[in-house]
Amino acid sequence: MATEYKSTASGTTPEEVDPGDLAIGLDFGGSGIKGAVVDVANGRLVGDRLRAPTPQPSLPREVVAVMDGLVRRLASPWDAREGDAFPVGVGIPTAIRHGATVTAANIDPSWIGFPAEQEMSLAMRRVVAIGNDADVAGLAEVRLGAGRDKPGTVIMLTIGTGVGSALFVDGKLFPNTELGHLEMRGRDAEERISEAARDRLGLSWKDWAVGLDDYLHMLERLFWPELFIFGGGASKRADNYLSYLTIKTPIALASFRNNAGIVGAALIAYERRSRTPIPMARQPFS
Ligand code: BGC
Repeated sequence: MATEYKSTASGTTPEEVDPGDLAIGLDFGGSGIKGAVVDVANGRLVGDRLRAPTPQPSLPREVVAVMDGLVRRLASPWDAREGDAFPVGVGIPTAIRHGATVTAANIDPSWIGFPAEQEMSLAMRRVVAIGNDADVAGLAEVRLGAGRDKPGTVIMLTIGTGVGSALFVDGKLFPNTELGHLEMRGRDAEERISEAARDRLGLSWKDWAVGLDDYLHMLERLFWPELFIFGGGASKRADNYLSYLTIKTPIALASFRNNAGIVGAALIAYERRSRTPIPMARQPFS
């Protein structure tokens, strides 16, 4: 079946920005793959924000094909000289080591051990940088958003299909923390406190918030952060549950809300471009 791309205008038009500051950010989630061209100077999305459903099952080959379709559409308002030069960053919901995805909690198990960065670069014929989805969302917030200029320990949590975490000390990322998988009452925490768990368990906001509060108390006791930043789908509905939380650590909502992953992915792409040559053409997955 042909992929359906849903598009929303960002409000900033291609004519208003310097193409040299642009990169494409993609955010690979359990239900959708979202992407936009981003002005890395300020994190603003430029042109249309696109979303395509995540293929089910989410096999690497299928997912990369959808990403390639998104990238082509996103770059199309620019001429080839400019649009083809935009590097691509991808936030992926797995731990990542040496450019390969090494876990697969909410996506197809065939991502375990997949050399994602290399295969995506080959498929898209561009510089591609990958990062854990929560890590890149956290980078966007720490560099340009709610965590900007915040010293000490800052923890970003993305609450969506799974629960992702990004740990920063004085603005420096400690990657792949995977705190959503800490054990809580004998179970993986994200099985109780993700947005997907709230739906699956049919919990009221208040009942769901009790679990989230326990989890935050646990993080408080383990890390003593100066600030929590909430992102992911749940950051859009924070009014429904923030008043039930009893932790002492201040909580900020991601300034980029659910787009933090897209913005952070563009940031890592932009940084990578200065270091990596454009990959030579070869058939992907051969
Ligand atoms: C994954 C993390 C990811 C988080 C949010 C978890 O299940 O293990 O890598 O950051 O979901 O997508």
